[in-house]
Amino acid sequence: MAEPLSIAGLREAARRRLPRAVFDFIDGGAQDECTLRANRADFDALPLRPRVLVDVGVRDLRTTVLGRAVALPLLVAPTGLTGLATPQGELHARRAAAALGTIYCLSTNASCSIEAVAAAAPGPFWFQLYAMRDRGLTRDLVQRARAAGCDALVLTVDLVQQGRRERDLRNGFTVPPRLSLRNALDMLRHGRWVLDQLRAPRLEFANYPSGADRGVVELAQLIAAQFDATLTWDDLAALRDAFGGPLVLKGLLHPDDARRAVEHGVDAVIVSNHGGRQLDGACSAIAALPAIVAAVGGRAEVLLDGGVRRGADIVRALALGARAVLVGRPVLWGLAALGPRGAEHALTILRDELDHCLALLGVPAVRALDAHCLHDPRAAPPVQAAARVAQT
Ligand code: FNR
Repeated sequence: MAEPLSIAGLREAARRRLPRAVFDFIDGGAQDECTLRANRADFDALPLRPRVLVDVGVRDLRTTVLGRAVALPLLVAPTGLTGLATPQGELHARRAAAALGTIYCLSTNASCSIEAVAAAAPGPFWFQLYAMRDRGLTRDLVQRARAAGCDALVLTVDLVQQGRRERDLRNGFTVPPRLSLRNALDMLRHGRWVLDQLRAPRLEFANYPSGADRGVVELAQLIAAQFDATLTWDDLAALRDAFGGPLVLKGLLHPDDARRAVEHGVDAVIVSNHGGRQLDGACSAIAALPAIVAAVGGRAEVLLDGGVRRGADIVRALALGARAVLVGRPVLWGLAALGPRGAEHALTILRDELDHCLALLGVPAVRALDAHCLHDPRAAPPVQAAARVAQT
C-alpha cells in the first residue's frame, strides 16, 4: 500500500490499525471537543498572502530554540504512553527528532524511562514534568532529568486534574478499564496491534518508582490521584533551582499568565490547550498566540502546539510570532500507522510541506516570516516587530 502523503492520511491509516479505544484515546478531546476543533478551524481561517519574483531557490528552515540550533522550527510534544501507538514509541520518536535535527520532549507519563530515552539518540531533548502531590517524587523526577542531561524542563500547568474525555469514558478506556464484549471483539479485529503489544516488553509508566513491578492500571490510578491542584507561581523557583537549566511553562492561553511567567524568570512558554484535551471551550492555541507574543515582548521565547497538521500551519504560527511549534498527534498517528519509522515519516511530511509553503509564499527563510505573510496583518500583535528583533 502507498505511504500516506499527509498527516490526515497517517491519521486514517492509524484509525485502521488501532483498536477503537486506543485510536480514540489519542485522537479525542475533552467533552464536546469544541476546543479540539477550534485548534484546526482557527488555523484554516488565517489566509496566507504570497509575494512573487523573490529568489526562493534555496530555503532556510533553521532557527534556534532556547539557544540550541534546530534544523526546522518543529519539535515533538510530550505524549503519555506513546508505547500504545507502537511499542517503545518514545525511543522511536526521539530518534526521529534527532534524525531531522530537532528536539524531542519526553512526558512524565512515558512508557520509556528518562534514561533509556536519553541514551536512544544524540542531540537535545527536554523533559516534561507533571508536578505531583508527592513532592519527593517530583524532586526525584527533576533530578533524574538533570542527571540524564535534559536540556530543558517543561512544566505542564494546564492539568490540575484530567480533562473529561468522553470518548474514553464511552469506550471503557478508563482506570480501571471497563472490559466489554465490544472491546474484546474490536481487539480481535486489530490482531496485528495486539500481537505487537504482546511481543514487546510490557507497557508501563516507566518513570514511576517500581513501574516495572506494578501493573499499568494500578499505576494509572496512582498517577490520577497525584496531579497537584495546589501548585502556584510560588512553586516555580524551587523547581527551577532543582533542575538548574532552562524552565519552560506549557499550557498558557492568557497574556497575563505569560507576563507573570516572564516575571518569574521562565525561559519559554508554550501556548497550548493540551490539544483540546483539558478545558473544553478554551480558545484555540493559534487564537491565543498574538496577545501572548505581545505580552512577552521578546523577554522569553514563545512556542505553540495544538492543531498543527500542515507546513502552512507552522508558517502561520511563526508569522504571528512563535519561535517554533510542537506536534503531538501527528507523531502518534505516524507511529501507529507505520510502526517505528512512522514518527520520522510524520515529521518529514511536515518539513517538506513547510519548505514547499515557503517557496510558494516567496519567503526564503523561516526567520523572515512575519505578519505581512498573512492576508490580514492586523492578526499580529502590535509589538511583534520589536519582539522579533529582541529574539534574534
Ligand atoms: C498529550 N499531551 C500531553 N501533554 C503533556 O504535557 N504531557 C503528557 O503526558 C501529554 N500526553 C498526551 C497524550 C496524548 C495521547 C495526546 C494526544 C496529547 C498534549 C501534547 O503535549 C500537546 O499539547 C498536544 O498533543 C498538541 O496538540 P496536537 O498536535 O496533538 O493537535
